[in-house]
Amino acid sequence: MLHTISYVSTSAELSDFQINELLYITKLKNEDLGITGILMHSDQNFFQIIEGQKKVIKSLYQKIEKDIRHFNLIKILDRSINIPSFTNFQSTYTIVNREKDYSDLQQFLEIEKVYNPKNFKNISYLVNKFMKLT
Ligand SMILES: Cc1cc2nc3c(=O)[nH]c(=O)nc-3n(C[C@H](O)[C@H](O)[C@H](O)COP(=O)(O)O)c2cc1C
Repeated sequence: MLHTISYVSTSAELSDFQINELLYITKLKNEDLGITGILMHSDQNFFQIIEGQKKVIKSLYQKIEKDIRHFNLIKILDRSINIPSFTNFQSTYTIVNREKDYSDLQQFLEIEKVYNPKNFKNISYLVNKFMKLT
């Protein structure tokens, strides 16, 4: 059974090195575990989507929640999915910092719009803020 969790959080005081290390290791680990999604960091915030096997996602989120590198986690999504939205491109875990990644993210949002119109508005707002589009 496939599952997705998405949240925003406030970053602790981290150096550029610590942030890059976190993003790099997350990407490696998720690719290893077959977890897809995105992780964005902007100013003092993280925005993350993880999707994969329910057991894997739930236990990963429990670890992420306790990580002292961030706090004030606000869960946006926590639900079953039929098809992962992030497997189409690269089949890797994505760090969003380029225009291309953003267009992939738009695809995810289009699906979210259909399945979860209430959350769609919130996520779109956050994503646009993160990408500094608004
Ligand atoms: C914002 C944020 C996002 C994270 N995302 C992931 C993730 O997607 N995958 C992952 O394995 N660890 C992620 N981590 C790291 C985990 O909190 C934790 O350090 C790691 O899973 C522990 O790995 P271990 O079981 O090898 O000790 C994240 C940490 C932070 C602060």
